[in-house]
Amino acid sequence: MNFRLLHTDTNTAARCAELYTDHGTIPTPVFMPVGTRASVKSVEPHELKEQQAHIILANTYHLYLKPGNAIMEKAGGVHRFMNWQGPLLTDSGGYQVYSLSELRKITEEGVTFKSHLDGSMLQFTPENVVDTQRIIGSDILMPLDECPSSTAEREYIRKSGEMTIRWAERAKQHFSLTRPLYGHGQMLFGITQGGTHADLRTISAKALVDLDFDGYATGGMAVGEPAEEMYRILELSHTLLPEHKPRYLMGVGTPENILNAIERGVDMFDCVIPTREGRNGRVYTRHGKMNLRSAKYSEDFSSIDEGFDNDVCRNYSRAYIRHLLNVGEILGLKLCTLQNISFFMWLTRTARTQIQNGSFREWKESFLEQYKRND
Ligand code: GUN
Repeated sequence: MNFRLLHTDTNTAARCAELYTDHGTIPTPVFMPVGTRASVKSVEPHELKEQQAHIILANTYHLYLKPGNAIMEKAGGVHRFMNWQGPLLTDSGGYQVYSLSELRKITEEGVTFKSHLDGSMLQFTPENVVDTQRIIGSDILMPLDECPSSTAEREYIRKSGEMTIRWAERAKQHFSLTRPLYGHGQMLFGITQGGTHADLRTISAKALVDLDFDGYATGGMAVGEPAEEMYRILELSHTLLPEHKPRYLMGVGTPENILNAIERGVDMFDCVIPTREGRNGRVYTRHGKMNLRSAKYSEDFSSIDEGFDNDVCRNYSRAYIRHLLNVGEILGLKLCTLQNISFFMWLTRTARTQIQNGSFREWKESFLEQYKRND
């Protein structure tokens, strides 16, 4: 058993649990900082640990293109390559093929696409995407899926969802026929699709549960639909997915989205928001978001968030970080990134404590009230 539920909230569907990997135990709910190309941009692995990150995410598409499987295998897998000794999850790359590459063609066999780096034609299949993730050596692998656009017709989403189920079955079969390369165990999750259509989501979830994955992700969300639609799908998923397996909401989201999803039974999250916005000088605090590029902070020598327990808030002023951003010093981007990672870690860690104390809903409401005053 890789996953142990420790506490289920009595007022909501929120839970706290532990997910066990050979690189360490992951307390949930958990947020995974994104390190697409085996680097959480500007942050070293020891700094991720200092921010209390438990697991990070990398991407099969990017790592397959560069450095490529031969170098990754020679390096002994991604953990040794990047010197991150904690758990790591890889997304399958399907999503990136749809968002980054031109000339993609989806067939039953897989997806053919033109590399966004050198224009060469490549193919991802459910099988070779598992092979690449064996070579990367991630602790959690994701199968190839198709994430339809938010504007896709219902009929397209239905057919695509059925193909994603067949791909999941092939991925599972191939996963069971292959072995980890570096001595540590690997898990395979399933990804449900079906857009905002309850009947299609139900078909997808039931088929994946029958295939018996180590965990279940809800994909195809936060692609432009209203947040309420996403919450409705999460409530439905909660009734369909096994209680004793981890649930992962892919690519989400804002602090508000995360807390609302935790309330609906989600355990794991990833999103580029903290890292991408940090590089734009936007920082997350308990009092909402702040754009530190703004001239209004040029003489503000207070902390970003007074009393928030991390190095950035203890050691630097708004005016100093604003100055760094203003003159283009790379330390500015790094401090904003560290602040955001630290904040998202605090958010899920505090949610977990509140679930354990039976006070999650009250805390969530009072936190969001304060947070949204400046959002
Ligand atoms: N990241 C965000 N959404 C998705 C999705 O639907 N599929 C995959 N593979 N990754 C995602």
